[in-house]
Amino acid sequence: MRAILPADPSHPTPIVGELPDPIPEPGEVLVAVEAAGLNHADLHQMRGHYPPPAGESDVPGLECAGVVLEGEKGSPWQPGTRVMALVGGGAQATRAAIPVGQLMPLPDNLSFIEGAAIPEAALTAWVNLVVEGGLQTGETVLVTGATGGMGSFTVQLARELGARVLAAGRSRERLELLRDLGIDEVCLEGANLAGQVKEATNGRGADLVIDYTAGPDFGSHLAALAPRGRLVVIGTVGSRRAEVDLGLILSRRLKVVGSLLRARPREEKARLTEGFAAFALPRLLDGRLRPVIDRVFPLERAAEAYKALGQGGAFGKIILATA
Ligand SMILES: NC(=O)c1ccc[n+]([C@@H]2O[C@H](COP(=O)([O-])OP(=O)(O)OC[C@H]3O[C@@H](n4cnc5c(N)ncnc54)[C@H](OP(=O)(O)O)[C@@H]3O)[C@@H](O)[C@H]2O)c1
Repeated sequence: MRAILPADPSHPTPIVGELPDPIPEPGEVLVAVEAAGLNHADLHQMRGHYPPPAGESDVPGLECAGVVLEGEKGSPWQPGTRVMALVGGGAQATRAAIPVGQLMPLPDNLSFIEGAAIPEAALTAWVNLVVEGGLQTGETVLVTGATGGMGSFTVQLARELGARVLAAGRSRERLELLRDLGIDEVCLEGANLAGQVKEATNGRGADLVIDYTAGPDFGSHLAALAPRGRLVVIGTVGSRRAEVDLGLILSRRLKVVGSLLRARPREEKARLTEGFAAFALPRLLDGRLRPVIDRVFPLERAAEAYKALGQGGAFGKIILATA
């Protein structure tokens, strides 16, 4: 198969080459990958900072879409089925062995490129809104880094879960583009973020913050919360360091939770995939939920794609076309 070769810290840009096809273990199917999503985790892995969990492929790539080549007896995953999937590694290749519990049918109205943009953003949004964040219908959620690959799907899923959605970012112009995805208000990062959120919530603040950026803005993300509000830290594109007023956490009785998707066991990923698919597949089919794609690169130009994600400025996901 063609694949991005496993990370070599002495050469931190991705190299495409030939590797043997993966051999599926029991409970896995072999998929001909047509497209794979790109994530910050891949950039970290390429630099030697984020190895795959034990038992997962050391080829980069956490999500893909394609066609089942070798199915599993008695399962719905038979040769020729169009699928999309979250994986612990191995997606940025022309073949991947994928646990059956992490496969989802690719809705007929979506291309492979669109399908590859869904699993990581969708499952990250689902686990953090529903499981970690405990989002309830009618609550207000603030999503930071809302224009990014994760954020642009999270705002839609939050809306479909019945929340009022505030989108935060550094550029009003970019945030305004999210209005098409059904957000209620835009909030600019900076000293007055909490003030804008209060104004949008009759002085109350957000019930939940889904934080993809953290860093120097983390304090204002906390300050945007209502009493007893929850904040889930998912990403640190802003920086891993932050200064926090612990008095705010105490006096408002806030909950701050950290969350990682990739490290979760396969059984948990299968449960999350099942829950997400039941809720979201009908909504993907009728267009209430849609992947947001910034750019597509052929696999052979993976180095440019990695560079583009690292530079920032994408609106939605960057995808590698593998076929
Ligand atoms: N914990 C998990 O399980 C998990 C899963 C998936 C992703 N993640 C993490 O989630 C984060 C977001 O991923 P993504 O794929 O959405 O990334 P992305 O596509 O690069 O989007 C990040 C967004 O954050 C904003 N941003 C970029 N640099 C920033 C900075 N220095 N300070 C403040 N804001 C900045 C940008 O929006 P504006 O330019 O519009 O402000 C950008 O659209 C990453 O850190 C990723 O590793 C974690």
